[in-house]
Amino acid sequence: MVETVISIRGARFGDEAGIARVHDEAWREAYRGVIPGRELERMITRRGPAWWRRAISGGTRLIVLDFADMVAGYASYGRNRMPSLAYSGEIFELYLAPEYQGGGLGRRMFEAAQRDLAAHGYPTFVVWALAGNDRAVGFYRRLGGRIVRRAPEQFGADTRERVAFGFD
Ligand SMILES: CC(C)(COP(=O)(O)OP(=O)(O)OC[C@H]1O[C@@H](n2cnc3c(N)ncnc32)[C@H](O)[C@@H]1OP(=O)(O)O)[C@@H](O)C(=O)NCCC(=O)NCCS
Repeated sequence: MVETVISIRGARFGDEAGIARVHDEAWREAYRGVIPGRELERMITRRGPAWWRRAISGGTRLIVLDFADMVAGYASYGRNRMPSLAYSGEIFELYLAPEYQGGGLGRRMFEAAQRDLAAHGYPTFVVWALAGNDRAVGFYRRLGGRIVRRAPEQFGADTRERVAFGFD
């Protein structure tokens, strides 16, 4: 029997191209029709391997999910950036490449981030998602999040609503 090895670990140098690929594919798939096209292209282009290399060497916690030695997903998290929300931590981003979605890997990455946040003194946390990102909204609700804030987000001349899910 062939077993596929799945592991979740801290990002390291050498992962930047794999994370950039996941970011590109996941963002295109999740945000096409949600974020205006030109803005989306600009955001994806900015986040190439060089950007991710800086992120790996920076202070933000960044984990990757390896599926048979390929980077299939990543998550970044740290201190909550909006002090008016009574949560200590925040998951900034959590993405899986489209072909890996829907099989329980998102939950595994989420729980790994949750454990690491708690271990670093952030037992409660928020996650922001675009209100129009139905998959993310359904996922965070299913994992026990409740909407604790709504706020506008600007994309060039356009505005979209984003929602914060709180996890106690
Ligand atoms: C959102 C994302 C991380 C979820 O990961 P996933 O692997 O697809 O989700 P999982 O299979 O781990 O689902 C976990 C649970 O949530 C449920 N779930 C997932 N999506 C759901 C949805 N849209 N509505 C309701 N429940 C949902 C699953 O049924 C599962 O329930 P169970 O564990 O109780 O059986 C992933 O789909 C993804 O990267 N999407 C695109 C990018 C994105 O939107 N990222 C979030 C940005 S804020």
